[in-house]
Formats: sequence, C-alpha cells, structure tokens
Amino acid sequence: MTPAEPSSARALLENSRSLIRSLQTAEGAYPASPTFSAYKGFCWFRDGAFIADGMSAAGDVASVDAFFSWCARVVRQYRDDIVSAVDGAAAGTPLPDARMLPARFTFDGGRDGGDEWWDFQLDGFGTWLWALDAHGARHGADLSPYADAVALTVDYLVSSWKRPCFDWWEEHDEQIHVSTLGCVGAGLEAASRMGVLDEGRAALAATTAATIRDYVLTHGAIDGHLVKWVGSTAVDASLTALIAPLGFIPADHPVARTTVEAVEAELAVDGGVHRFAADTFYGGGQWPLLSCFAGLARAALGDNEGAAAYLAWAMATATESLDLPEQVDRHLLAPERRQEWIDKWGEVATPLLWSHAMVLRLAKELER
Ligand code: BGC
Repeated sequence: MTPAEPSSARALLENSRSLIRSLQTAEGAYPASPTFSAYKGFCWFRDGAFIADGMSAAGDVASVDAFFSWCARVVRQYRDDIVSAVDGAAAGTPLPDARMLPARFTFDGGRDGGDEWWDFQLDGFGTWLWALDAHGARHGADLSPYADAVALTVDYLVSSWKRPCFDWWEEHDEQIHVSTLGCVGAGLEAASRMGVLDEGRAALAATTAATIRDYVLTHGAIDGHLVKWVGSTAVDASLTALIAPLGFIPADHPVARTTVEAVEAELAVDGGVHRFAADTFYGGGQWPLLSCFAGLARAALGDNEGAAAYLAWAMATATESLDLPEQVDRHLLAPERRQEWIDKWGEVATPLLWSHAMVLRLAKELER
C-alpha cells in the first residue's frame, strides 16, 4: 500500500466502504471484525457509532440508518434494565455493575453469547447519540423515529454518568475515565438539540452535559491537559476524540491543543499512535484508528498538514488485500507480551471495521 499514490488511497477508501457495507448484518449491526476470535459475532455501540459516523461522512445513508435503527431496537430491548438503573440511582441503591447494560451485543441484541466480558461501559451509549445527531445534521435525516430510544438512553446516562466503569479499552472499571465522560457528555448535548425530546428531558440532558464538561475540566485535567482518568497524570490517545470528532472540548479551548500535544509527546511515534503508555495488549502496538483520531483533532486545530500525515500513516498499515488491522507491531511498548495474546486469541484483528471507518472519516474531513 503506497498511500502517497492517489489511486491506491482511492482503492483503500472504496474497499473500506464496501467492506463495511458487505459485513453489516441483516439486523443492521456492524460487526467489530468478521474473523477475529474474540470479536466475531458481536457489535459494540462504541465501534458501531464511529463506524456509522465514518459511513455517514462517506454518504452511505441507508447503511447508517439501518445501524441506528438497530441501536434503537437494542435500547428498547433493555428498557426494563434501564428503568431499574434509573430507579436504583434515584433511590440511592444503584444497580450492581453486572446488571448495567453490556458493551457488546450479539446481532439480535443479546447480552454476551455466553462469554464473560468487561461489560459495564457507558461511553458507547453517549457516542451513539452523538453520531445520530451528527448524521441528522449532515443529511437532514428525520430523527423522530428514534425519540423513545434517545429518551431511554438519556435517562440511563443522566442517572449513571458519575459511576466508574470500564473504559474504551475495557479496562480499569474502578476508575472514572475522562474519555468516557466526554462521550457521555457529547451524547447528552447532542440529544438535547435533536428536537425529539420533551422540553424537560432536553433541558436535563443539556444541563447534565454542561455539568460533565465542568467536571472534566476541573477534575479530569492536570498541567493544562486532559488525563486518562480522574486522579491520573497520564494521557490516553482516546482523549483526542473529545476535541474531534466529538467536539466536546472546543478546539479553541486551551486544553484542546495542550491535550493533543501531550498525547503526541507520550504516545505518537512517527505518526503511529499507542493507546496509553502502559499498554501490553498484543505487545502494545500502534493503532491506525488512533492515528485517525489524532488527525481529526489536528484538523480541528487548523493543522491539515499534520492531519494528512496521520492519515498517510494509517493508510500505510493496510495489508496487500487492503484490510486495516486493529494495531501494528512496528513499535511495540511491551514486545515480550505480544505472543501471549497471539496464543490466546490468534493474530491481531484484521480487518477491524472501526479502523476502516476512521480512515474514511479523516479522508472526508480533509477533502472538505
Ligand atoms: C477494544 C475495544 C473495542 C473492541 C472491539 C477491544 O480490544 O479495546 O475498544 O471496542 O476491541 O473492537
């Protein structure tokens, strides 16, 4: 793959769109990866929402509508659990983590297909709301069919956003993760402006989002940059998403640039971005999707050249058959830990649909 040649870049983008379209299930779900042992057969709201955003930017309206209908059906399926979570929080007896909504779903919306997973994660429920609103704004889509599912999701997030839970990487459920807060806040803010909620709920979504932003800027930042979790001084590459595409931290806020620079100083090597400094998963390689998030943040800061360099790096991770992996081992943080994951789950997830979607999304951003 030589992304410097426009024809190969075009081929990769086309392959990304058709791959995502062809793997979308009849139910509308986006599988995380068609082949990787631990992801096969599951859809995450986090991956799915960002995949939908990439496909929406690329103009695949029907695919994205089908995905959001799937999300809405899944949320409705868990209505009783959401009501219990909301009631429990109001009564001061919050549900145990194991009874909160899962992070990955089988394509029929089922909980876990029998496997244990690091399930209690809140970010994806914010991210789907954010992506739905972005899609509506981009294509003038009618969001009223989603009103009840949006309302349920808002109630769930408003009641529970302060709870520690697993992060984007399904780790550290004892912490309050700043990226998770950003996704939840961005989702609530998006829901408040969709025009599908009753006035009281829309106002509550907006004020809760504002409270979360204050909380993030007060407790989730040190030395002028956002941090991985409340109380940590480290960064996590997922933080760049809060600047773009989520826009939860405005690009002209001083914390935005300082966060991007801190992530780059700690986690970027030659355009490839690591998740966090202590990562050992598959040896702690570089994730093309994170280079794309860094690129989107760079573009939001007005640095299109920096953004284009990240895109080129991400594109250059494609295999000969134009598949994008979850991570590459060009620069490993913990090389001695790579083999144990290969033994456990097989080779790195390839293709990973989220990687394909982020390349699409950043390429579209740079076209504008
Ligand atoms: C990642 C998650 C992702 C999942 C499916 C995990 O290894 O940590 O962020 O949602 O894979 O792609």
